[in-house]
Amino acid sequence: MTLQIFRTKNVISHEETEHGLKRCLSAWDLAFLGIGAIIGTGIFVLTGVAAATQSGPAVVLSFIIAGFACTFAALAYAELSAAIGGCGSAYGYSYVAFGEVWAFIIGWDLLLEYSVSVATVAVGWSGYFNNALTAMGIPLPMLLTKAPKDGGFINLPAFLIILALMGLLIAGVKHSAKANNAMVFVKLITITVFVGVAIFNIHPENWQPFMPFGWFQTLPDGKTTGVLAGASLVFFAYVGFDAVSTAAEEAQHPQRDLPVGIVSSLAFCTVIYIIVAGLLTGVVPYTDLNVPSPVAHALQQLGINWASALISTGVIAGLTTVMLVLYYGLTRIILAMSRDGLLSSLFDHVHPSTQTPVRIIVVCGLVIATMAGLMPLNTLAELVNIGTLAAFVLVCLGVIVLRISKPDMHRPFRAPFGYTLPVLGMLSCSALMAFLPVMTWLRFVVWLVIGLIVYFTYSVHHSKMAQA
Ligand code: ALA
Repeated sequence: MTLQIFRTKNVISHEETEHGLKRCLSAWDLAFLGIGAIIGTGIFVLTGVAAATQSGPAVVLSFIIAGFACTFAALAYAELSAAIGGCGSAYGYSYVAFGEVWAFIIGWDLLLEYSVSVATVAVGWSGYFNNALTAMGIPLPMLLTKAPKDGGFINLPAFLIILALMGLLIAGVKHSAKANNAMVFVKLITITVFVGVAIFNIHPENWQPFMPFGWFQTLPDGKTTGVLAGASLVFFAYVGFDAVSTAAEEAQHPQRDLPVGIVSSLAFCTVIYIIVAGLLTGVVPYTDLNVPSPVAHALQQLGINWASALISTGVIAGLTTVMLVLYYGLTRIILAMSRDGLLSSLFDHVHPSTQTPVRIIVVCGLVIATMAGLMPLNTLAELVNIGTLAAFVLVCLGVIVLRISKPDMHRPFRAPFGYTLPVLGMLSCSALMAFLPVMTWLRFVVWLVIGLIVYFTYSVHHSKMAQA
């Protein structure tokens, strides 16, 4: 019996995980995990950048286009997570669909996606946190708020928030889910306040011209602009719904609840994004939105300072949940890869009392905290998008391959309309990749080449499938 078949049957036939993780997450926890990971820097920061530099008020269209691509991918994730399960997410699905090399490549790609996302969001979080400290009259010295390359010594808040999340994740997944649920609640209140205030302050003339940068063009400096380039950028706002699928081994009813958690959190966030983007560009001219905190800034422009302060608080909570869930997802993917022998077996260990993979959590925490504390990560953020889109393309392809190669596989959830949606998912995600700058592609290829070196020098010799 090959390891792939073993994986498939193994995961769907056990109510209790045999790896020591605890099945304690309900469908609501999963949907909140999704919302926790999804709503963050993308809507609170990148909407403004995209509106001001790429899409204009048509940033709403950018969100709709990216939302469609993600919906196709989410349905593919829903089908595979229910049928295959496992905490490895796209890594595990690729294992079953395409075999080990491709699984490793996509797993390696996910390590980049999740770790860089967490570090990037930590740097953004630190910006908001420092603003809040300054507003309270206790500013930190500049040396402790910036990376060395930006003239500081260490970005201490970014470093410390990762260590705090490390402690929370070690404590146990149910504790983490509870903290996540509370912070998601604060985040949703924040958005509700923004919508409630903005809706009465719309100036329709701000929506003209609607598409000042057209659909797509490459600028002389290699950067891209237009609604489609904007869609590739705001795609970051949707990153995270896939993290729900990494909770497969801790979900109480994974086959039923994972598809619900993935699709409902994405649908909910898509609607929120369209509303917030539409209101934001209606409240202030899009040209004013290229600032670190466009949502709070728009309310300040209207003179509603209490709402602006509330938004900043909500953003601090909101970004915390994004980091928490993506960090969680990263640890579960490494756990899956090390169980299969593709990464060191030192990581294949779940602590008996906390029932969490403590070693992985600590190593990841130290690496991410160091990245967040010492590196300016803005450019790396685009890598997150290209890496995630690549994973989405392969997951959609995986649905097609498995329907052909394993037509009788038990599929508790099946994406409707035959092959149409996975094909559309592959096309739309590939197109969004194509609209990213050349430099991003180069960095992505370098990361994959490093991964292949690791695979052929280490993983291939330690793979459990090869030894089976
Ligand atoms: N979707 C997450 C965010 O926007 C990564 O911060």
